Amino acid sequence: MRQLKPKIAIVGAGNVGSTFAFSLMISGLAREIVLIDKNESLAKGECMDLNHGLSFAQPTKIYAAGFESCKDADIVVITAGANQKPGQSRTDLVKANVAIFKELIPDITKYATNAILLVVTNPVDILTYVTLKISGFPSNRIIGSGTVLDTARLKYMLSEYYKVDASNIHAYIIGEHGDTELPVWSNATIGGMDIETFCSVCARKSNSKNELEEIFDNVKNAAYQIIQAKGATNYSIALSLVKISQAIVRNENSILPVSTLITDFYGISDVCISIPAIVNITGVEQYLKLNLSDQEQKLFVKSAKALKDIIKASNF
Ligand code: 2OP
Repeated sequence: MRQLKPKIAIVGAGNVGSTFAFSLMISGLAREIVLIDKNESLAKGECMDLNHGLSFAQPTKIYAAGFESCKDADIVVITAGANQKPGQSRTDLVKANVAIFKELIPDITKYATNAILLVVTNPVDILTYVTLKISGFPSNRIIGSGTVLDTARLKYMLSEYYKVDASNIHAYIIGEHGDTELPVWSNATIGGMDIETFCSVCARKSNSKNELEEIFDNVKNAAYQIIQAKGATNYSIALSLVKISQAIVRNENSILPVSTLITDFYGISDVCISIPAIVNITGVEQYLKLNLSDQEQKLFVKSAKALKDIIKASNF
């Protein structure tokens, strides 16, 4: 099995890019981390600060550079663009960030001809699609961070609610990383049991539909709350990116709900959207055509159509 200690390029040295660089440095996953930002001084300053902590971490080469440094990168993680202000939705950013990506992606793909591109900038599903179309790369090499973070939020909140280790909980958020996302309760398990069975065999909370819906609402609105409170989200998205990068470079075959191009899934094609996918050194090896309940199918199709409408309206 092929494995490598990679070079990871991060485009965008803002909150998300720099926190990802920090998390990546601590993880020891990369041999080289390069930060690229149009604000060169910001990228240089972040790298100086990171390098000064390097004696407490594993040897890693960390530096700021231009797009040409993407040349031998294994993964290019794209975090650049405008970010949400309090009260804004992710899709409010579409016009500004599609325009940025139209310039940015050719700058990256000119050099990073063999890399996997991991898109993080919001609205992530739209920008994953835009990246796919502009780059002309095969779809396995274009990955959006999608609902990996929302799924982590759901697992955390369920683990708090049921008082069970989050690693024993399997439950996915799928669809748009945004307001039309949905939880897949029909496939959710705790300790290998569906939630109803778990509640019946274990003296824990009951399986109240209302409470599960409230947990989901909290997941869906988490970013709004955090942005209202501190202006941006950075730690949990950074850790989600470490996990996705690790799945790629360690060839883990991890099942992660990343945003990927789907074809004929519940009748939907030609949109990037999150469903659980096997992620390994090839990128998205395959996505899993989940069996959804009737209600989940309806919500998923609605979410995918909302994304398609945004792509159409963006005149991309
Ligand atoms: C998040 O969900 C803002 O998309 C970012 O934290």
